[in-house]
Formats: sequence, C-alpha cells, structure tokens
Amino acid sequence: MNKKQISEQAGGILAQMTLPEKVAQIMQISFAHINEEDRLMWMERGIGSILHIMGSEAQKYQDMTLKSKHKIPLLFGIDCVRGHAMNPEATVFPCGLGMATSFNKEMVEQACEIAAREVTEDALHMVFSPVLCLGRDTRWGRVNETFGEDPYLSGELGAAMVRGYQGVGELREETGVLACPKHYLAHGESTGGRDSYDVSVTNRRILEFFAPPFKKVVDAGCKSIMTAYHTIDGLPCTANKWLLKDLLRDEMGFDGFVITDWDNAGRLMWQQFFSPDMRHAAKTSIEAGNDMIMSTPSFYEAAIEMVKEGSLEESLIDESALRILKVKLEMGLFDEKRTHFHNIKTPTMACEEHLKLNSDFTNQTVVLLENKNNTLPLSRSIKKIAVVGPNANNIAAQFGDWTFFTHPLPDYRKKAKSVNISIWDGLCDITKESGIKTVLSDWEQIVPTEVTNSSEPEKEYNPLDVQSIFRAARESMTQYTNETKDICFDGMLSDCEGADVVIAVIGDHPTLNGEEKDRANLNLQYAQQEMLKALKEAGHKLIVVGVSGKPLIVDWAKENADAMLWTFSPGMYGGSAVASVLFGDVNPSAKLPISFPLHVGQLPVYYNQVPGWHGDKYVDIPKEPLYTFGYGLSYSNFEFSNLSCPETIKEDSDDDIEISVEVKNNSEFDGVSIVQLYIRDMVCSISTPVKQLKSFERVPLKANETKKVTLKLPMSELAIIDHDLNRFIEKGTFKIMVGDLSFLESEFQVV
Ligand code: BGC
Repeated sequence: MNKKQISEQAGGILAQMTLPEKVAQIMQISFAHINEEDRLMWMERGIGSILHIMGSEAQKYQDMTLKSKHKIPLLFGIDCVRGHAMNPEATVFPCGLGMATSFNKEMVEQACEIAAREVTEDALHMVFSPVLCLGRDTRWGRVNETFGEDPYLSGELGAAMVRGYQGVGELREETGVLACPKHYLAHGESTGGRDSYDVSVTNRRILEFFAPPFKKVVDAGCKSIMTAYHTIDGLPCTANKWLLKDLLRDEMGFDGFVITDWDNAGRLMWQQFFSPDMRHAAKTSIEAGNDMIMSTPSFYEAAIEMVKEGSLEESLIDESALRILKVKLEMGLFDEKRTHFHNIKTPTMACEEHLKLNSDFTNQTVVLLENKNNTLPLSRSIKKIAVVGPNANNIAAQFGDWTFFTHPLPDYRKKAKSVNISIWDGLCDITKESGIKTVLSDWEQIVPTEVTNSSEPEKEYNPLDVQSIFRAARESMTQYTNETKDICFDGMLSDCEGADVVIAVIGDHPTLNGEEKDRANLNLQYAQQEMLKALKEAGHKLIVVGVSGKPLIVDWAKENADAMLWTFSPGMYGGSAVASVLFGDVNPSAKLPISFPLHVGQLPVYYNQVPGWHGDKYVDIPKEPLYTFGYGLSYSNFEFSNLSCPETIKEDSDDDIEISVEVKNNSEFDGVSIVQLYIRDMVCSISTPVKQLKSFERVPLKANETKKVTLKLPMSELAIIDHDLNRFIEKGTFKIMVGDLSFLESEFQVV
C-alpha cells in the first residue's frame, strides 16, 4: 500500500469509531500491572496498545481483539533496550553503555535485528529503544541505558539500532519491529543527576547537543518516539509544544506517533503540579502533541469528558488516533503474519546463531584500562589464580538493569534459561583446560550481610502495586549501601595464598543503578575498596575487573592495580569475554563512551566542554577525569602517520570532507584500532567545545600491518547553532585530531 492508500484506509476505519473507541485506541496500558477484570474492561473499551506482557498471554488478547467490532489489531510494546532481555529465554546483550564501547555500528545493527526476531516470536511489535539520552552526569541511575556522553556516537549507534529493529527503508517483512527512541529530550541532564528531575538547558543547547541523535533516528525511519518525564526550564516535556511539534515534526520531519512515558499525563498533576486535575492534564497532553498515552488509565474518562463538554477539540483525538492507525497499517499489523506469532515456522529465540553473535559482540566490549608491565595477557603456564570480589560470580550484577532480573518485577535470583557465564565460569573454562588451579573466594565470608542475591524483594511485592515495587527496591538498596560491620579478610587472604595472580571483580549491582536509583557517591560500596587494599598489602599481583552499570571512582585501583579491565553490564557472555581478554584469546579493542570521573565533585566531566574556565583548574583536585571518553588500551600499539586533509573547503559544499591517515599495528598481536576523528572550530561566533567526535572507523590490522584509512566528515557536522536558533556553517579554521590513543593534528579552512 502506498501512503495515500494507507491514509484513506486509516481514515475509513476512524470514521466508523465512536469517541470512546478513539480515545481507547490511543491508550497503552501495562497488563503486567493490572488484574484480569481490569484487563477485560480495557479489551471491551477497544484499547489500542498494551505493554509488558508477551508470548501466549499477549496472543490471547490479540485473538480477542481480532474478533471485536472493529478488529483493529493491538500493538504490543516491550522494553527491549539490550535484546529481548525481559524474557529469560531470550538473547541478552550488553547494556547500551556496554554496546557503545565497541564503537561498532554494524554489530549494534545486527544485535537489534536479532532482538527484533525474538520479540516478534513473543507476539510483540514495538521496542522502547534506542535510548538516546546522553550520560553526562554519571550520578544519574540510568547511565547504563545510554550510549554514553557523546551526541555523535549516540546518534550513529541509535540510527544503527533503528535499522536493526525495523530494516532499512520499509519495515522488514515479518520480523521488523517498530523502534521507539527515547526519552525525548535531554533526559539525562537533570539537576544533580536526579532521575527525571528538572533540566536547565536552553533551546539552543537542545539543538546543539540533544536533538542531533534524534534527528538521526528520524532520518533512519523511526515511526514512534517516547517523550521524557522531566521538566525543561520548568515546563514538563509532556506539555512542551515547541519540543513535540515545532522541533520534532516541523523541523526534524518526524511523521510517526509520539508516545508518553509511563503516566506522564498523570504526572502533570500529581508530580509536577502543572495541572490541577486529570481533565486539564489530558487536554494539555493532547494539545501539546502526545498521541499515545502510556499507563494513565484516568486519561480515558477525562479526555472523553473534555471533548463532550467542548473543552478539547475532537479533531485532535482524531489526529492522534489516525497517526497510530496509519503506523499499524504501514507496519502490516492488519496482516495475519504480524498478529499470529505462533505461525513463525522456525523459532530463533536464543538460537545458536544469535548466541554466537552475542558472544562475538561481548568480546568487543571489554575495555582495558591499565596494563602495567604487560601484566596481561596472562600466561597459561601460571599455577594458581584466586578470584575474589562481589561480582566474581554474580549473574544479576553482570546482567544489570532492564533485564528479567529487574523488570517487570525485580527478582535477583533468576537465571537466563540459556547462557549465564559469570566471570568465574568464564575463567574456569580456560583454566580447567590449562590445568591452572582456580579458587573462588566467597564474598559472603567478607561481608556476611550481603544482599545482592537476596530473595527478599519478591516476598514484599504486591505485583499489582507499582509503588510497592519501587518502595521495596529502594529499601533493598539502602540495605546494600549500608556500612557493613564485621568485615573480615582472613578467609579471602588464605584462599589467595600462593596465587600467581588475584583477580578482584568489583562494581555495582542493579540495586545500585537503574531507574530511580541515582547515587550521590560513586565510590566502591561497602568493603570493596578495603578488599583491594588488603590484597595489595598482602603483596599480590592484582588484576581488577569492573562489572557495573556506570563509571565508578577507581583512582586507587588505577594507581595500584597491575591491570584493570572494565565492562558495563555485559550480560550472558560477560564472563567468557573477560576471561578471553585476560588470557589474550581476544585482543581488547573497546573504548570508553563515557568519562570516568576522578572524584564525584568533578561531575559533569564529559570531554566536549566549551573553553573559558577562569583558572582552568580546581584548587583541590585535578580537573582531568580519571579516564576520558575514547580511551581504551589494546595489546597492540597503533601508530599513526601521514594525516592528510584538504586545505580549504567551500562553505556550501555538499560533499563529505575526506580525511586520510595511515595506521600501523606495531605489535605481534592482531588487533582492531578504533580510529577517531575530532574537530574544533577554532574561532567562532558561539563558544563551541574544545573537541567533538565527528567520525570513527573500526580498523582491523594484522600484527605489523599498515593500512590507509579514509574517514568521511559530513559537512553538516561542522554546523553551529546561533542564539536565534539558526543552524549554519561559519567560515574559518577547523582543527582536526585523528588517532586512537595518541592523536595527530592538522587543520582546514572553510571559505
Ligand atoms: C521508563 C521507560 C520505559 C517505560 C515502560 C518508564 O518508567 O522511563 O524508559 O520504556 O517505563 O516500561
């Protein structure tokens, strides 16, 4: 069907619907959080979309709908930010931050194609992903979901995700699912790193930093976008017409539907005190440009009443319903194949091909932060390894947030039904073969009150009461962060006796990061720091492995560990990936998509800040982060030479600027260099950052091989936004910096 036919058909369906049916069509309700009676009530009303149920349960309601008066198929949505991770049978990839360390668009795209297949097999059609918030204040609980701090990287990986979920151009037959990029807009910028709190960015900054990733996903063809919880300069995103209409539709050209985040319409009233009652909140949400209303049941009655009494234009409800119907038609939802998931002939859920890709991908996401005196890779002829620390054998910590461990209801005791390779398991797979004695020192002998695998949350939860879930999660977090008395390292130190190397696996846990789990203190919790010191004092060769949802404060480890690796919630294959890097079966290539602060007081410490700090330093601590964006070691040494770029470029040129460089792998290890191109606009009518990533390339190089690499810099990436919100390219000098760990510099003139 072409666009005209789709419009006509959607219009035809709409014309037959009553006002309550149209309002029901724009509602999305979580069936995981309501009882059967309420579910049936929504089915009778003709609800348009459901979230958080899957498989045969979802199919049951789809079948019901297809027998109803209008037979408009239900659109099922799910949080699938790292594979279909809410299903323990599915393939769970590293979290967004983990994926971003690979700087690998192709891999991200393939992972999302896999996710789309698996989601489809569970009767679902829409994934609330990619997450395009920038993780710049790492106190924020949701940093793990982001692609890190950089808008260019986020946009590139976000667009790759959309292509993976949907296909390129048309939605992929049968297995394409609707991407829903979120949270629109600037969601990570809240004051104090407090989740979904007030954001103080200007519209100019929005255009400069936060809108570009969304423009890229719109251009990649996404048909839905989720708004954000917070207020910007006091105005809730839910009520922000400039954001939802002028910028998104008129300027970016988005033509799909806008969905609110969870109860955003209700929050206008009970959280943001913007609306005196639900009627005002319903009217505001619709008039501002929201089309689908997630999880605000009382919106239904309120919107109907407002239209009936003439306070809300029915045509606006029509527009929203029409947008949703059009997308349902465009994605072929009215076709049997999309509404009968069990018709899929060969199920692929966590099949060999999917797991293999996940394993290869995860290998690319281990960041080597330190490697003093070439401590790594480890030799297979060592005799004994001791493995210690809270995350050495902690699958929930390794999987992290937005997996079946945390959603829809938290339960940290679960396991994936296919693969769960902890760091300990991964090491044992290698050491068993090589005859290396490997000892796991039980963390609970150090911290007896440890709760990371506790089963206690489940007992406390009333699954139908979302607030009680959050309450219990908060309580268990308090328990996790409480100072622990009676720390005793004797058992650990005796386990480590005679070890050639001690591998200390530290980090955090989903009780310490995720939605509503912001932290003011990013130090290692409870006895972890003391544990590292005790190991060092005992004279051990110390390798630190981080497993966390965000950068933590590890300045002591940087100084004192012999080597340090970091992984961000790497999922099923975290253990094998770490072990393969430790033993050199995989040469690490990953780079940090986010800076590690030296101290929490530096935050935000993202790399692309503007110049002009009076004094340019703190008087009490260094200004530099511990590790900056783009950093990451390899077992290879990459050397750069012969950087070449054009001397002048016409300001109105349409062509990409081609910049070439030679890179040599000066080592005996085959490896991959992630070649990064940064620019700086040297003198400009608006202060621009001292460094901005604008292109990157993964370059595989055999030992001692040299390659010439050509990076493409699109002209549009040189644009600035002035104070009248105009986007344009300004003439003048641009510096370029190209490299991996060390950088060559050159410049060109825009004339
Ligand atoms: C989160 C969204 C998520 C939604 C549905 C909200 O609390 O902010 O990212 O998609 O819940 O689960």
